[in-house]
Amino acid sequence: MSTHFHSHLATVDPSIADALSHETMRQANQIELIASENIVSRAVLDALGHAITNKTLEGYPGNRFHGGGQFADIVELAAIDRAKELFGAAYANVQPHSGSQANLAVFFALLKPGDRVLSLDLAAGGHLSHGLGANLSGRWFEAHHYGVDRETGLIDHDQVEARTKEIRPALLIAGGSAYPREIDFERMAAIAKKVDARFLVDMAHIAGLVAGGVHPSPLPHADIVTCTTTKTLRGPRGGIILAKDETWSKKLQSAVFPGVQGSLHTQIIAAKAVCLGEALQPDFRDYARQIKENATALADTLSEHGLKVISGGTDTHIVLLDFSPQGMTGKEAETLLDEVNITSNKNPVPYDVPNPSHWVGLRLGVSAATTRGFKEGEFRALAGVIARLILTKTEDAKCDAKRKVAELCKSFPIYGGV
Ligand SMILES: Cc1ncc(COP(=O)(O)O)c(C=O)c1O
Repeated sequence: MSTHFHSHLATVDPSIADALSHETMRQANQIELIASENIVSRAVLDALGHAITNKTLEGYPGNRFHGGGQFADIVELAAIDRAKELFGAAYANVQPHSGSQANLAVFFALLKPGDRVLSLDLAAGGHLSHGLGANLSGRWFEAHHYGVDRETGLIDHDQVEARTKEIRPALLIAGGSAYPREIDFERMAAIAKKVDARFLVDMAHIAGLVAGGVHPSPLPHADIVTCTTTKTLRGPRGGIILAKDETWSKKLQSAVFPGVQGSLHTQIIAAKAVCLGEALQPDFRDYARQIKENATALADTLSEHGLKVISGGTDTHIVLLDFSPQGMTGKEAETLLDEVNITSNKNPVPYDVPNPSHWVGLRLGVSAATTRGFKEGEFRALAGVIARLILTKTEDAKCDAKRKVAELCKSFPIYGGV
């Protein structure tokens, strides 16, 4: 019997197996507060590790370039149907390998090189695939940005309208990676219409909140909606493109394949189908509601302890902190939290400097710890230890924080307690 089909990773490649097993322990023994992360179900992991990964397929169900796709077709069609049902969409493409690929495909479908796009500024919470100079979207298209109000940290829709009329983009984009508040999608759609621009909403971060019914959906308003299946949707790493009608479907289909991608990642499509099926269950709505309650508890408690929360709170899973009053950088705060087994990431705050090592923001998100079972009480306790740590930086505060993190991780184990 060939060892190829029977030997497990620990036997075949102990060094990689060892690193993976340490990664499992790391996830179990730290509190994940990176807003783009979550903890997928065992069922999603099963799909990701399935032999369907061996299947090469190009094209779409019923119209493939390779044989043997009958079961992969069942999987992809299920993912498409579930995405449509979950978000009330008439069109869904579940093939994009990532959120960035989904956005690239939309650019490819709607724009010509050099066309103007208008999107949220990176420092105000935008995403690099919406026109950052170092990204293809900013290199091959003429990208302009709108920001947020300096005082409130909120998108000023009047300012967006003025900027849209000034720039006259072919594509107006809403959504981002670190904007913690609801966006008025209806107003943004009306603004786009005034200059005959197409309107794209990238709901990568909030897709799970939209699916769970605790955040307004952009679907009725946007021409096209993109998202990732990671983050609040709690699925594998990958992207989806959605639309309320079929207006752009032909262009989008060919923009994804063969426009910007080749064959499907079949095991990821299977895992997407599983996570979308999970999000259709009634308990996902409870999960989404708990995310919002937890984020509010985290933001309010951090504020009560004297930390500056951008926009004064949150409508989503994201809490963005500004350490300029403490004279501290986001990197310093990230390292401090890392030392006590809380994982987060430095981030720019609105109007921050361009150099990431001098950014004064830290982005926190509650989706992963909410999956573990944390409720408002746990988040209030966590906020207390984080605030004490940031404000005092004492050894005492570090010990206290480490103890609290270990206690919480023990009480809320993942994958059966590793
Ligand atoms: C708003 C937004 N769009 C797109 C992406 C890109 O997703 P990916 O990392 O899968 O390319 C992200 C990722 O964080 C995001 O926040």
